[in-house]
Amino acid sequence: MKICCIGAGYVGGPTMAMIARQAPEIDVQVVDMNAARIAAWNSDSLPIYEPGLERLVREARGRNLHFSTDVVGGIKAADVIFVAVSTPTKTYGVGAGRAADLRFVESVARTIAEHAAGPKIIVEKSTIPVKTAETIKDILAANSRGHQFEVLSNPEFLAEGTAVTDLEAPERVLIGGERTPGGQAAIQTLVDVYAHWVPRERIITTNLWSSELSKLVANAFLAQRISSINSVSALCEATGADVDEVANAIGRDSRIGPKFLKASVGFGGSCFQKDILNLVYLCEHFGLPEVAAYWEGVVQMNDWQKRRFAARIVRTLFNTVAGKRIAILGFAFKKDTNDTRESPAISVCRDLLAEQAQVVVYDPKVPAAEIRQEVLGKGEDGRLLVAASAYEAARGAHALAIVTEWDEFKTLDFSRIFEGMPQPAFIFDGRNLLDLAKLRALGFRAMGIGK
Ligand SMILES: NC(=O)c1ccc[n+]([C@@H]2O[C@H](COP(=O)([O-])OP(=O)(O)OC[C@H]3O[C@@H](n4cnc5c(N)ncnc54)[C@H](O)[C@@H]3O)[C@@H](O)[C@H]2O)c1
Repeated sequence: MKICCIGAGYVGGPTMAMIARQAPEIDVQVVDMNAARIAAWNSDSLPIYEPGLERLVREARGRNLHFSTDVVGGIKAADVIFVAVSTPTKTYGVGAGRAADLRFVESVARTIAEHAAGPKIIVEKSTIPVKTAETIKDILAANSRGHQFEVLSNPEFLAEGTAVTDLEAPERVLIGGERTPGGQAAIQTLVDVYAHWVPRERIITTNLWSSELSKLVANAFLAQRISSINSVSALCEATGADVDEVANAIGRDSRIGPKFLKASVGFGGSCFQKDILNLVYLCEHFGLPEVAAYWEGVVQMNDWQKRRFAARIVRTLFNTVAGKRIAILGFAFKKDTNDTRESPAISVCRDLLAEQAQVVVYDPKVPAAEIRQEVLGKGEDGRLLVAASAYEAARGAHALAIVTEWDEFKTLDFSRIFEGMPQPAFIFDGRNLLDLAKLRALGFRAMGIGK
């Protein structure tokens, strides 16, 4: 069997590397129009950082895993074509700021229709609005030249930072397809691929629309838990309750469960906000404004939490940060990834720059140019600096803000940091990563989220 995956990003790269490793007899081609990205996949310095990914890629690359810019060649040769291109929020026209921009998906469907020289199974790996398979089928059918195409939905549930372990032992694999003999045969083909390493009872098969919708709903539920505990964090700060104690107390109830109850500066990443907004747009489209408003609240709470964090820094630093140096520790949207898309750090930096602070960022994996690009776009601002270490960022800073929960921040020598800061020295722990009592014993004025 030959598989081709169009899109060599955070999803396409790792998922295909795992299939290639677990099914050595399947030939896996990952193709992308971004030549620089493909060159990086073929080099020693992969375009994305994920623990364990380098070893995984090295195991299969050159054997049955290939990265190339030859999209057409990949399509022609493959029996199964995964579509793992980006589906960002639309920034223009109808649905701007909410609906998914499906132009990459549509363009891939047209390329497949144009170049496929035989029957193919098309697998939606990208996260897309419900009913997108209909669009893909329509485009394929209109250009099929008699070839048989089956469209499956197989959303990806990996989390960045733990992509390799998530792919190695997924809690479930979801495959949606049509209830026709052709659809069922296509489902079975994909089940057989995953069955190389995923226990059969973990592979769920559904109809197409359930599968497409489940991915949006899964992300909406996860993000909702974060916004729920973050809303409580504000109440904790007002009342003297401690949000971690509250989370522990409620999480012991097995109906609630302990996971995803960590209060923080807010969620980020390319998916949660985009997928909820997509869900909101769908609800509006289908005439369900109450449902749309319910889910939109999750994003609104997250925006508020990010702004609240920066506002708390300003308020605590005697209502002005103008000319003060603020060290931002961590810029990626979570630890163990170099992905900065929608990272709360962007909003925190912008708010502090708007208050005329000097903002010094340190992140162990994100390059300086990317930090500047995310915060300033094409603009310039001499008050945004990037440091090569946490110690360098902290030297002379009036306050430190932990924005990403990188493990290395837990073991910093805070007494050394304290000595290099003007007094009083403040720490704002946006991830509740540090022991505030210990920091206070060193002399810091330290505060976390919801405490
Ligand atoms: N990042 C995640 O954690 C994650 C998790 C689950 C699902 N998803 C979903 O998976 C999809 C991909 O996400 P990602 O983070 O991998 O995106 P990404 O931006 O990292 O990668 C997408 C790639 O597709 C390529 N591409 C776009 N159009 C193309 C075309 N016509 N031909 C060839 N290549 C093309 C781009 O060059 C890019 O390299 C999105 O729909 C996303 O919502 C992402």
